[in-house]
Amino acid sequence: MPNTTLPEKLPNSPFPTIADWLRQATENEVQRNPNCMTMASVDTTGQPTARILLCKEIIADPGYLVFYTNYKSRKSREIAANPKVGIVFHWDSMGLQVRMDGLAVRCPEAESDEYFASRDRRSQLGAWGSDQSEPIGSRQALIDQVRERAKKLGFTLSPDLHTLTEGDQAKVPRPPHWGGFRVWPTRVELWIEGANRVHDRAAWARDLQQESAHTFSCKPWSATRVQP
Ligand SMILES: Cc1cc2nc3c(=O)[nH]c(=O)nc-3n(C[C@H](O)[C@H](O)[C@H](O)COP(=O)(O)O)c2cc1C
Repeated sequence: MPNTTLPEKLPNSPFPTIADWLRQATENEVQRNPNCMTMASVDTTGQPTARILLCKEIIADPGYLVFYTNYKSRKSREIAANPKVGIVFHWDSMGLQVRMDGLAVRCPEAESDEYFASRDRRSQLGAWGSDQSEPIGSRQALIDQVRERAKKLGFTLSPDLHTLTEGDQAKVPRPPHWGGFRVWPTRVELWIEGANRVHDRAAWARDLQQESAHTFSCKPWSATRVQP
């Protein structure tokens, strides 16, 4: 359990604290994926659905985070119809939780290109191999599809997918249906576990005005302490 609380005068922005908590979780290897987060989106009937994603970047100023996914997946289709998402990070051993409500917009293509190029070959081939969220008849059909698509790109994967033989192809291009989203929160809540369930909790809210397909102009945060 942490022996800290938020300062009496709450910081102007919650983001430096979030970045610091993620850094601590990463450095102390508190879990296999310290950057994992749950993200809920909603479908056109208002049904929320949540899944775990990896947060690949936190941009403290102006305040957004980045994840990568398949743009044809269920979450991406839901975001296209309704960009409102909810995010939760939980570092159990640190007794810390971060919640965000916000808007998800696609990253600029050049940013997704750069990140895709930095990924290891298997992850790159995986992005081509799977039509995320689509049904498939069998596990074997999926393996065959992954191997066939790798072959077309000049790589040979063994039948168990464990061994990869590189062909002449030096590069795997980014699939056009794969890339990043930026999540711009309008509300952030920080939660620190406290003794006797008297947790420390504060919320920050701000208005956003969309400036471009990828960016918002952000009004200053207003902070409030909240009862646990
Ligand atoms: C630890 C962990 C990390 C994951 N990271 C990602 C990720 O960064 N991007 C992604 O698209 N899916 C990721 N997934 C898979 C998602 O949870 C989910 O199954 C997938 O994105 C399909 O979701 P959808 O059908 O709701 O679109 C991860 C799963 C786990 C357990």
